[in-house]
Amino acid sequence: MPGPADRVLISSEQIQRRIQEMATEIEADYPEGPIYLVSVLKGAFMFVADLARALKRPSVRIEFMAISSYGNAKTSSGQVKVTRDLDVNIEGHQVLIVEDIIDSGVTLSYLKRLLEQRKPKSLAIATLLDKPERRIQPVTVKYVGFRIPDEFVVGYGLDFAEDYRNLSDIRVLSA
Ligand code: PRP
Repeated sequence: MPGPADRVLISSEQIQRRIQEMATEIEADYPEGPIYLVSVLKGAFMFVADLARALKRPSVRIEFMAISSYGNAKTSSGQVKVTRDLDVNIEGHQVLIVEDIIDSGVTLSYLKRLLEQRKPKSLAIATLLDKPERRIQPVTVKYVGFRIPDEFVVGYGLDFAEDYRNLSDIRVLSA
């Protein structure tokens, strides 16, 4: 069984406030045309839902991919596999990859390379959380919600062995 997750690292209010700021920045950077939010399941489902609602233009397309990189362990296996691909053509479109967390950078650098081959008009990354200390592969990230220390976090979409995703804040999981 996973241990308790009673230390709140980022409260629900802090998350929501930061998402509004990120949305304002994104709106300014993409003054016109549809934005394709390519969200990576499962962890990013809450973030993409709140980010999408914070964007005020009507033309926000929400698309999902699934990529597996961790399994149920606390550390990255370094293995990346697309388990669900996009069902739309992103060629010529403004694409924003929406992630919950960047850790080693293995997933995002793979995904960025993959989507670049599909010739979007633009391609950038928005992540709610960034753990820069853990980076193995460099990734350029345009929008970062919070830079966090190297602690195992759960909640707001992030899991440990599929538990805790439903929490509305981000908590540190005890060993
Ligand atoms: C997490 C997260 C990223 C990836 C980041 O997904 O959502 O996709 O790991 O790690 P990296 O920078 O070390 O590659 P996970 O594989 O845990 O799947 P989940 O979103 O379904 O929980």
